[in-house]
Amino acid sequence: MVTVRVPATTANMGPGFDSFGCALALYNTLSFEEIPAGLSFEGCDNAYQTADNLSVVAYRAVMDALGLPMPGLHIIIQADIPICRGLGSSAALIVAGAMAANALHGNSLSKMNLLEICNAIEGHPDNLAPALLGGMTASMVEAGKPYTSRYSVHPKLRFTALIPAFELSTHLAREALPKEVSHSDAVFNVSRAGVLLKALENGDKALIRLALDDRLHQPYRGALIKEYQRVQDLALACGCTAFCISGAGPTLLCLSFDDGWEKELRARIGEIPGDWQVLSLPVDHEGAQIIAE
Ligand code: HSE
Repeated sequence: MVTVRVPATTANMGPGFDSFGCALALYNTLSFEEIPAGLSFEGCDNAYQTADNLSVVAYRAVMDALGLPMPGLHIIIQADIPICRGLGSSAALIVAGAMAANALHGNSLSKMNLLEICNAIEGHPDNLAPALLGGMTASMVEAGKPYTSRYSVHPKLRFTALIPAFELSTHLAREALPKEVSHSDAVFNVSRAGVLLKALENGDKALIRLALDDRLHQPYRGALIKEYQRVQDLALACGCTAFCISGAGPTLLCLSFDDGWEKELRARIGEIPGDWQVLSLPVDHEGAQIIAE
C-alpha cells in the first residue's frame, strides 16, 4: 500500500497560456494497494470507478514504461480538489497514479521521467509540472517531450480562489478559443509573460497587476463563466492585487500580498449569483509526495 498526496494547481496565470502553473496548498490524497485482479475504489462516485479513472490510466502508463504487467488495484481517494473547476483535479489524479506505481516498483523514475509519462496522457504540462514539482513552473513541449523551469515566487504572494458551484469542462473551454491569433496579440502575451515571472519573484504589485493580462484565452472564456465581470470588479474593488482565470476556469483567481481585503470580499460575494466559495490557498512548494508506504 502506498499513499500519495498531490496539490491542486492553477494553470495559465494570465499571459502564460498552456505554460505557467503554480501548485496550491489544497490536496487530493490517494492510496493504492495492488491486488491479484480487478479494480475497486473507495471515496469516488460510481461514474469514476473504471479503468478510465485517470489515476488508473497513469498507473498503467508507468507499469508499461517499467515493462511490468498491470496488477489489480484497490484505490482509496480523498479528493479535496473540486472537479472541473480549473484547479488541476485531473492532473492530480494522473500524478497520483504515476507516483504510486513508481513508488511500489523500485522508485527508479525521476519526477521528470514521470512528467514525460503523465504528459503523454493529458498533454497539459502547465498543470502536471507544478503538481509533481510544487511551486511555480513554466513549461513547454518539444517533439512530445515536456521541459519545465521552476521559478521563485515572493514569499508573501497568496492566492485566493473564487470557486463557483458550476463546472466547466476543459474541452468546452478550449473549443471557445480561436484557431489563430493576431501577431499583436501574441506579442501582447509574450511581453507580459517574461515581465510577470520576475514581478512574481520580486513581489512587485504594480507590475503584477499590469502583466497578469492576456489576449489568448481569457477574452474568449470570460463569456463561459457566468458573472465573471461582476466577480472581477468586486475582487478588485475589495483590494486584491490582480485577477485572472484559474486554468480553463470557471474558478477565478485573486493574487495578493495580505489577507486584509478578503474580509470584505467574503462579506459581499453572496450578492453575486453562483454560490461562489472563497478559498485562501498558499503556494505549495513540495509538489506530489509519498506520505505513507
Ligand atoms: N492550459 C490549459 C487550458 C489548462 O487553459 O486549457 C487546462 O488544463
